[in-house]
Parts: sequence; structure tokens; C-alpha cells
Amino acid sequence: MIIDPVTGAPAAIRYEGVHKSFGTNHVLRGLDLIVPRGKITAIIGRSGTGKSVTLKHVMGLLRPDRGEIFLGDVNLMQLNPKALRRVRERFGVVFQNAALFDSMDVFDNVAFPLLEHESFSSDVVRAKVTAALAQVGLSAAVHRLPSELSGGMRKRVGLARALIRDPEFLLYDEPTTGLDPILSAAMDELIYETQQARPALTSVIISHDMKAVLAIADKVAFLVDGRVVHEGTPEYFAQSDDALIRQFLAGSLDGPMKV
Ligand SMILES: Nc1ncnc2c1ncn2[C@@H]1O[C@H](COP(=O)(O)OP(=O)(O)OP(=O)(O)O)[C@@H](O)[C@H]1O
Ligand SMILES: [Mg+2]
Repeated sequence: MIIDPVTGAPAAIRYEGVHKSFGTNHVLRGLDLIVPRGKITAIIGRSGTGKSVTLKHVMGLLRPDRGEIFLGDVNLMQLNPKALRRVRERFGVVFQNAALFDSMDVFDNVAFPLLEHESFSSDVVRAKVTAALAQVGLSAAVHRLPSELSGGMRKRVGLARALIRDPEFLLYDEPTTGLDPILSAAMDELIYETQQARPALTSVIISHDMKAVLAIADKVAFLVDGRVVHEGTPEYFAQSDDALIRQFLAGSLDGPMKV
């Protein structure tokens, strides 16, 4: 069993020397990363540095040009398409734009993954959707359409939908982008509570919100030019006097990273 040196927890996901190019754009350049089981891992870094691409690889939506990705002991590179689809079902994903179906109300959006993959009775579906919506504080909005929701509510619907099949992995790609500071804080709190309520869940969050990252993550990985250049606990990042880390956390124009 491989142990994450930062948290001491076993590795749930492991990237080893992953390279990925799109045409001449060499995005991932030897990415090594351990995502610990039962923890929240945050991936930070500048726009275009490969954070979303990193997440897409673990779900088998992209294949590395070189390198390996392990889910527990399973090497994703050795799976056939059918096995990869089964792997994908172990993930819940909260997309940046919530990606709701506009013509479906909140209930149907949240129920969708259940109806698509499993054959539960309508009573069971109703009970599961009701519980998921209660958990994200949206019980009152069950029959609204996405167009009738605020941005924060849409993101919470996205989280309820990601949770509905009780995933082993929960991936958040910029879950608070576009929310006001108070709604952002509420969403961060919800992410934290979601993890606390499920000790076996492994969460990965991509965020530009450094305050939130330092408050809720167990482990932070800092991506620069397609590689993890620093990883550690939030305390490590908060106390570091490394010029790259200081500049990024401060959002400063002065420092080794140029605009
Ligand atoms: N499917 C794709 N085809 C071609 N290029 C892609 C594809 N997906 C991502 N890229 C490129 O890979 C690079 C990294 O993209 P990625 O979306 O991972 O950035 P990011 O770190 O998530 O940035 P942001 O913080 O802005 O979301 C970008 O240059 C992007 O244009
Ligand atoms: Mg991105």
C-alpha cells in the first residue's frame, strides 16, 4: 500500500510521470501526484496550467501520452473501454458551470444519474433525491427549473446530483467561481461538511480561492507548467516563504510568475 507523505493516508489516486500534449501544446510535463483516500486534496495553479486536464485523466476522459495513473492498485492505462466506463461510475463530478439540464426541474436533474444507471422504484428515487436536496439545503426548490435558480443554488443542485449515487470520488472543478463571497463561503462549508459526513470519500477540488483552499483542504498541490512543484498541508503553504507560493497566495504581480 502506498501512503501519501503529506497526510499519512493511503493513496486513492496516483499519477506517475504523466505527460499530455495537445498538438504542440505540452500541458502535463511529468505530473506526479498522490491523492489520499478519505481527504480533500486541492489542486491550485494558474489558468491554463493543466488542472482540469489533470482531473479529466483520472476519469478516463483523456489518456496520457506517457506515464501511469492508478486508482488504488488498478492501472487505468490497462483497462478496456468497458472497464473504464465502470471506473467512471465511481466518480461524482461538480462542474464549473453546474451543467444542469435546462428543461428539467431540480428533482429530475438530481434523479438523472439514478435513472440512467440503475432501476430503483420511484419511491426509492424520491427518497434519495429528497435526502440529497436536504443535504445541500435545497428542499424548497425541488420543482424549480434551473433558470429559476441563483448561481449558488445551481451549484448546490450540481453537488446533490454528484452525490446521488454515493460516489467513492468527488471531483470539484472551480465550484465557487462566479459566486459572491458569502455564497462561496457557504459552498466551501458544504464541501467540507460533505467530506466530514463521508469518511471514505476522496475529494479533489480545483479552486482559485486560496482562502477556501487553505481552510478546507487536507493537502494542497501547486501545479506549475504541468508539474506539481510544491505539495503540503495548508499550514505548509501558509507558512512557506517560497517566492512562487507567496506570489500565488497573495495574487501579486511581483514575483517569479509573469502575466
Ligand atoms: N481537449 C483539449 N484539446 C486541446 N487543448 C486542450 C484540451 N483541453 C485542454 N486543453 C489545453 O490544455 C491547457 C490546460 O487546460 P486546463 O483546462 O487543464 O487548464 P486549467 O489549469 O484548468 O485552467 P483554468 O484555471 O483556466 O480552468 C490549455 O492550454 C488548454 O487550452
Ligand atoms: Mg480548469
